[in-house]
Amino acid sequence: MRTGRGPGVAAALLALAALGALPERARALSLADCTAPGADCTLREVADLVGLRLGAAAASGYIASDPLYGPTLAAEFNSLTPENHLKWPQIHPAPDTWNFGPADALVDFATAAGMRIRGHTLLWANPDRLPAYVAGATSAAEARAYMADHITTLVGRYAGRIDTWDVVNEPLENLGDVLFDNVFLDQIGPGYIGEAFQLAHAADPTARLFLNEVLVEIPGSSRFDAFYDLVKGLVDAGVPIDGVGFQTHLLSPFIQPTGAQLEDAMRRFADLGLGVEITEMDVGMTQTAGDRLGLQAQIYADLIGACVRVAACEGITFWGFTDRYTWLDAAFGPGLDPLPFDVDYGRKPAWFATRDALLARLPEPAPGALLAPLAAALVLGARRSRRRGRAPALPAGRAVVEI
Ligand code: XIL
Repeated sequence: MRTGRGPGVAAALLALAALGALPERARALSLADCTAPGADCTLREVADLVGLRLGAAAASGYIASDPLYGPTLAAEFNSLTPENHLKWPQIHPAPDTWNFGPADALVDFATAAGMRIRGHTLLWANPDRLPAYVAGATSAAEARAYMADHITTLVGRYAGRIDTWDVVNEPLENLGDVLFDNVFLDQIGPGYIGEAFQLAHAADPTARLFLNEVLVEIPGSSRFDAFYDLVKGLVDAGVPIDGVGFQTHLLSPFIQPTGAQLEDAMRRFADLGLGVEITEMDVGMTQTAGDRLGLQAQIYADLIGACVRVAACEGITFWGFTDRYTWLDAAFGPGLDPLPFDVDYGRKPAWFATRDALLARLPEPAPGALLAPLAAALVLGARRSRRRGRAPALPAGRAVVEI
């Protein structure tokens, strides 16, 4: 088992990057290849094997400036989220000004590397995150026109390449249980959220459309209830929403939902027929002594385990991947070390915890294996029931087939 990227691998990746080629997964792997003693799979290889999206937020500038950044990203993740380049003020700073360059660079990078792309985000509800010209709309018609132009242009431009969008980000006021007060709420009313989804759906009917929120990982809080009611209202109204994103920004030990709580939260939305994802996970460690990286690894295992156990959970995205570049440095000061790679791209205990947690997901059934989906459902059902301490309900006359 290796504990960091060796210089030989780094040099090879560097050479590939210099040639403009991205590392392709040449190996055809089986589950055993990644579970055998001494196995050496990347997170991407493991995620592909178990059929989960595994992503990282990224910035095009680092791909250009840091020779290890792009190759590590492409080797370790099968999905990418532009961290800032698609946000309204960055990409559309004035009504007739579009700044597509940085986002295009990332989309091209991910496409060349065979990675999926999460589009983040069409409408960040926090009024501080909307450009001044949008915030200045003085009628519902004007607000609707800005929204339609922005969403239709962006989703249309990247149709077929960005497969999933955070249509609205952080609809709830920071720490609160009411909608953010912004120009869309003021001019259009709460229906603006559903309208944003309709616009995105019309621009790319094949895209997966998500509502993304922070600090809603704990059922039972008034904030969770407000978010749930909002989502249920959208579903009941026939809004084309496909899923819910749990940002999962943790700050140990102060903001630290358990995996069991996140699993519960995910199941509530799965029961509405929605997909769920962890969309922005990082685990800032305020502890300065003790085995802080070991503790961090346990938290990673616990939270990722929630996604792995919930069939409706489609993936996990980290907000960055190396402690060399994390938004927490600017937000809270340096040293919180929230990500699975250290500042030198070495694999941290959190990397190994992620790999092991992912491996607990059932393998995808082999193509053409007619009985495999049924068997998988039965085994999953049996496992869930065992966890709940009751016998699985089996269809009459069918046996559980372990696969
Ligand atoms: C953050 C970026 O990481 C920073 O670089 C930027 O300065 C501010 O936004 N929730 C979100 C993300 O939905 O878009 C935020 O990203 C982090 C919190």
